[in-house]
Amino acid sequence: MDKRRVYLENYGCQMNEADSELILGQLTSTGFQIVPEAKEADVILLNTCAVREHAEQRIYGRVAQLGKLKNRNPELLIGICGCMATHLKEKIIQKSQLVDLVIGPDSYRRLPEIIEKAVGEPFVDVRLDKYENYADIRPVRAEGVRAWVSIMRGCDKFCTFCIVPFVRGREHCLPLDQVLEQVKEAANEGFQEVVFLGQTVNSYRDKEKGVKFADLLEQASKVEGIKRIRFMSPHPIDFDQETIEVMKDNPKICPQVHLPLQSASNAVLDKMKRRYTIEFYDELLQRFREAIPEIAVTTDIIVGFPGEEEKDYQETYEYMSKTKFDLAFMFKYSPREGAKAYNWGDPIPEEEKIRRLEGIINLQEKISLENNQNEVGNITEVLVEGEAKKEEGHWFGKNPQFKTVVLPKDGTKPGEFVKVRIERGTPHTLMGEVVR
Ligand code: SAH
Ligand code: SF4
Ligand code: F3S
Repeated sequence: MDKRRVYLENYGCQMNEADSELILGQLTSTGFQIVPEAKEADVILLNTCAVREHAEQRIYGRVAQLGKLKNRNPELLIGICGCMATHLKEKIIQKSQLVDLVIGPDSYRRLPEIIEKAVGEPFVDVRLDKYENYADIRPVRAEGVRAWVSIMRGCDKFCTFCIVPFVRGREHCLPLDQVLEQVKEAANEGFQEVVFLGQTVNSYRDKEKGVKFADLLEQASKVEGIKRIRFMSPHPIDFDQETIEVMKDNPKICPQVHLPLQSASNAVLDKMKRRYTIEFYDELLQRFREAIPEIAVTTDIIVGFPGEEEKDYQETYEYMSKTKFDLAFMFKYSPREGAKAYNWGDPIPEEEKIRRLEGIINLQEKISLENNQNEVGNITEVLVEGEAKKEEGHWFGKNPQFKTVVLPKDGTKPGEFVKVRIERGTPHTLMGEVVR
């Protein structure tokens, strides 16, 4: 039987989403057909995340569900792609006999052959390859207004809590020409926004051309048809003043920056090997706000890292109260085997981690609400994306700050830029009326 219908589910960060689009690109160019439901597929791929244990637990649950489809279709292949594949390798097959393929993030080029050759024996290919950048593979992009473009893969930072450098390998960048080519392709396909992706996206370099991240932003902004440029996730220590200047002076580069803090305690930052102090971080953040007053600043925080004491936690809490991030992604520390901090155990009890997490979540909810309510009366430009989930007869879209704005349809349609006067704000959404 030829196994030609593929169904894919994505888990994890935007880089995984971009990889899923490459996987589908590679498979469709070799004769596979994408199907919208698992039950129609001959091959089911789950593109997975390993950043926290919870992410991996979810996948086993999903495999057990999907595995039932094998009763009807014994030829069905289930493949685990992505970061969990490199993290757990053969252990995945030992744990779940429903899994047929374990494919790491640098092996997607070989997927068509791997699937063709699969013969009832589980197959594992998780070799990392620092030269693989998939630059020549045309992604099958999800419909919408926004195109993901991975400009670098891997990470060299080795923060002590983090599994990413182990599951994705060393940092390597795409050549500038290939990045620009992808931006042009996205523009030709009708996308108006590009988001550059990388685990430390602002350490981007094209060494041969002597090009840095700021130059890339500048050059990409010249591509016709692209109206908005964003990037995820930068590392605080990799910013230079040129990048801030380009963001300030170039209207296509959106006033939005994700500055993952993790902790505001220098003792914890040091153990995390984040390579900055809170003073350095704060100075950078203030420089962004001074240069670009309308900028939205978001962050990531981990609580319950080994050795985090109440006073360290309080420092984080106070810094968040003072700084008023527009949004924060907050996590309980999850020990990851392979990362350095794994050797330090997980000394903070679960209830205490939960207490700390809930403390900052409640704080941030109030701050996000306050920030959004302060927007009432302002006029903002929204790129309309699609149906609002909760509000019937409304669209949602993003403003330059990447805030979700809900607006009445009012003769507008997805893909249009619309001016909206904000009338109401909740912690995660702005609501308003179209201004003509
Ligand atoms: N490259 C990005 C982070 C990618 S992982 C950066 O450096 O900012 C996204 C977020 O997950 C991290 O910022 C961190 O807050 C969180 N995270 C990573 N490892 C974690 C772990 N072991 N436990 C809990 N949260 C973790
Ligand atoms: Fe992980 Fe640190 Fe690299 Fe981010 S910079 S991916 S947190 S090791
Ligand atoms: Fe997860 Fe891999 Fe992204 S571990 S956060 S999917 S790089």
